Amino acid sequence: MSNSLFRKKSLESIVKDSADGLSDGHGSSGLTKVLNVRDLTFMGIAAVVGAGIFSTIGAAAYDGGPGISLLFILTAVTCGFSALCYAEFASRVPIAGSAYTYAYVAFGEVVAWIIGWALILEYAIGNIVVAIAWSGYFNNLLLGFHIHLPGWMLIDPGTAKTAFLSAQHTLAQGGVLGESARAAIQTWNSAPVIGGRHIFMNIPAFIIVCIIAWITYIGIRESKKTTNFMVIFKIAVVILVIILGFFFVQPANWSPFLPNGFAGVLKGVSAVFYAYIGFDAISTTAEECTDAQRDLPKGMLYSLVICTILYILIALVLTGMVSYKELMVTDPLAFVFNRVNQKWIGYFISASAVVATTSVLLVFQLGQPRIWMSMSRDGLLPKAFGMIHRKYHTPWFSTIITGIIVAVPTLFMDSGLMTQLTSIGTLFAFVLVSWGVLVLPRSNRARGFKLPYVNGRYIVPVCYAAFIFLFRERLGTAFQQLSKAGLEEVLFLVYTVLATGFTVATVIRKYSVIPVLGVLFCAYLLIEIPAIAWEWFFVWMGIGLILYFFYGYRKSRLTAKQVRRDGAAEEGVGQKEKQNGPQVR
Ligand code: ALA
Repeated sequence: MSNSLFRKKSLESIVKDSADGLSDGHGSSGLTKVLNVRDLTFMGIAAVVGAGIFSTIGAAAYDGGPGISLLFILTAVTCGFSALCYAEFASRVPIAGSAYTYAYVAFGEVVAWIIGWALILEYAIGNIVVAIAWSGYFNNLLLGFHIHLPGWMLIDPGTAKTAFLSAQHTLAQGGVLGESARAAIQTWNSAPVIGGRHIFMNIPAFIIVCIIAWITYIGIRESKKTTNFMVIFKIAVVILVIILGFFFVQPANWSPFLPNGFAGVLKGVSAVFYAYIGFDAISTTAEECTDAQRDLPKGMLYSLVICTILYILIALVLTGMVSYKELMVTDPLAFVFNRVNQKWIGYFISASAVVATTSVLLVFQLGQPRIWMSMSRDGLLPKAFGMIHRKYHTPWFSTIITGIIVAVPTLFMDSGLMTQLTSIGTLFAFVLVSWGVLVLPRSNRARGFKLPYVNGRYIVPVCYAAFIFLFRERLGTAFQQLSKAGLEEVLFLVYTVLATGFTVATVIRKYSVIPVLGVLFCAYLLIEIPAIAWEWFFVWMGIGLILYFFYGYRKSRLTAKQVRRDGAAEEGVGQKEKQNGPQVR
């Protein structure tokens, strides 16, 4: 059984399947090839610049101060290692499916399934977060036109209840209610009550997901045009914010640069990483590229470089305009301009945030169905997930299912835990993609992107020594209190063991430095995500594995191939026996 769990697809068969189209009609030929390097770069930026830079950066800056810009650099370097590994894979395995397909080639079926299952966290769960952020900005926009939606249709039940109870608590203590606490009480009291329960649901978030699902259903060409327009607009806005913002920067705000030390900066890991998620999403459109091997790697790297530059500048402007202590808000970019009495700029930023988050929704809503399409072709999901629409040439069934599983939770879920789960799922995929490059057979390709080989034998041990030195105290404490260590410390120790193993293996086998550092940096960011999200992650993965053993393992195309091979072999023996008489075995 363990052999069949790790059965792999060969690069040749993947590329052949993709080029020919499969006999059951699920071939890639049904998709339209229209995307070039510019479209892909735009799509990457469309997926990256969104709720992260317009919203989660605020809390990260509050914890880390101006030094948060260092975290943007560290995260960009981490994503850069992964992007190079994605680029190597995208060039060698130019079909839809992203990290899922890459893992099938590198590690075998069960790991591929695990990754495919984890990617649902990045694409579908990630979009729940974006839709909720979209709804908040959209409401700001309506307020500018003096349109007031009732509070109960803008919020999930959990958040509404927590805010209400907290306001009540303040009142019970004899405290004075602030503006948001008064709004919480009003929202609670004005909510419809059915069967004794107050009803809350985020209706704008639900509606935008339905609209996006419709756009992605009717075609990649329409999606491409919409994406390109939105990207140009949001890049222009971000550049405008940087330029205008610099006029209001007071260098005194940059001091102290690390008010809460590096530990404060590291608190922002999942928020900052979330802001970078997305450049990898374009690899799911491999079969809709005019030249995937040449253009996909470029698209990923260009979009990452452009976003990194913009993010570092935004982080510096933001923390230079006001004190970092004021940035614990959900709309920091608009807030800082309001704060320096430039309300019209703040309002304009709110409007652009709606556009920015819309394009993120669009790209992720395009990505998820294409991963399912690949999994369905491989037999790990039912055939319906791979069906291509005759008229629109899109994976219509997967697109509808994606729409439903994103839209319905947006009505009721709160975004905090969802953000962390998205980051875990994505980093997990990044670790395995980087690792996968190490186990891929070497190639002598003449064309496409080729990951440069730099011997890691000396660089990796130096990085490892720096890690041990920087974290020596945490390591000592974790070892001393091993028996009562919490999940976070256990993860830290597991990471240290992994890092030690990788360093030794790199020295012995002369591994290439880029994928090794990709694994180590991404795994480090992973363990910085809070334990509660890890617990949910384990539950999610457990459900995935159960499904795999009940369905995918038995229905996999590789199982069918194996059965055919075995059948043919037996038939061959039978024929021989007929000709030569029975053989003594
Ligand atoms: N990077 C994407 C965003 O910030 C997920 O919205």
